[in-house]
Amino acid sequence: MPSGTTGASRDTQPAFLMCPPRFFNVQYVINPWMEGNVHRASPGEAARQWNALHAAVCRVARVLLLAPEPGVPDMVFTANAGLLHRGRAVLSRFCHEERGREEPFYQAWFQAAGIAVDTLPPEIPFEGEGDALFTPDGKRLWAGHGWRTHLRSHALLAGLLGCEVVSLRLVDPRFYHLDTCFCPLANGDLLYFPAAFDAESRARIEAWYPKDRRIAVAEPDALAFACNAVHAGRTVILNEISPALADELQARGFEVVQVRLGEFLKAGGAAKCLCLRLHETGA
Ligand code: ARG
Repeated sequence: MPSGTTGASRDTQPAFLMCPPRFFNVQYVINPWMEGNVHRASPGEAARQWNALHAAVCRVARVLLLAPEPGVPDMVFTANAGLLHRGRAVLSRFCHEERGREEPFYQAWFQAAGIAVDTLPPEIPFEGEGDALFTPDGKRLWAGHGWRTHLRSHALLAGLLGCEVVSLRLVDPRFYHLDTCFCPLANGDLLYFPAAFDAESRARIEAWYPKDRRIAVAEPDALAFACNAVHAGRTVILNEISPALADELQARGFEVVQVRLGEFLKAGGAAKCLCLRLHETGA
């Protein structure tokens, strides 16, 4: 990467930031997926799975790499670094101290890449793109709260980013980040798991997305992190899903690329968590 710029800011050509799993494992428990999995991820298999994901993403997008650091095993989940919009980044403020140690590395990367960094007050958790996803036009931000990101961050985000922010309350601890259960696709379709939201939030989603644009995934696919999808154009890259859901996505014109990501599921993450969007959404 040439120093001083990613070339990704303000660019709508797909680009993502990934971090190799050199120091990845489950070393603490901060979500239900990690329970019973401490030290249970296989480093060799995690590396193979990550390489396969990296190769799949490289076929449809530019991928920049963040240098892995020892002692911060969840740093592979770059979606939690922050949220990019119009060439600026809002840096994450992690809810858990274990992940808070990643913040300086993300901040340094953004700054070295020439991306201006905004920060939130230390007492207000916000976990980046893990809990904040734009509609394809880039005008509306869907923001999750309830487990990691605090509701109070949403109004601050609206002020910093100058966009409409719609809050969605997450109620199932297995779907603790918005990107584990909600994925606005580029063509205006939505992949989501309705039971992860409270009734009011479901009503907000249904008011925005007509029924024929909503793909409500069944629980087994939701538990396979089907909603945790990376998408670039018509390509959707995700963990292994049911043939029925793959057919549904293909019928809507998507090319479905399935990459086995079981080692990362042990930490509560999959394809989308492993990629931070660097390109601009919308026009
Ligand atoms: N173990 C990580 C955590 O609990 C997983 C993060 C997954 N990232 C995401 N964007 N959903 O924070």
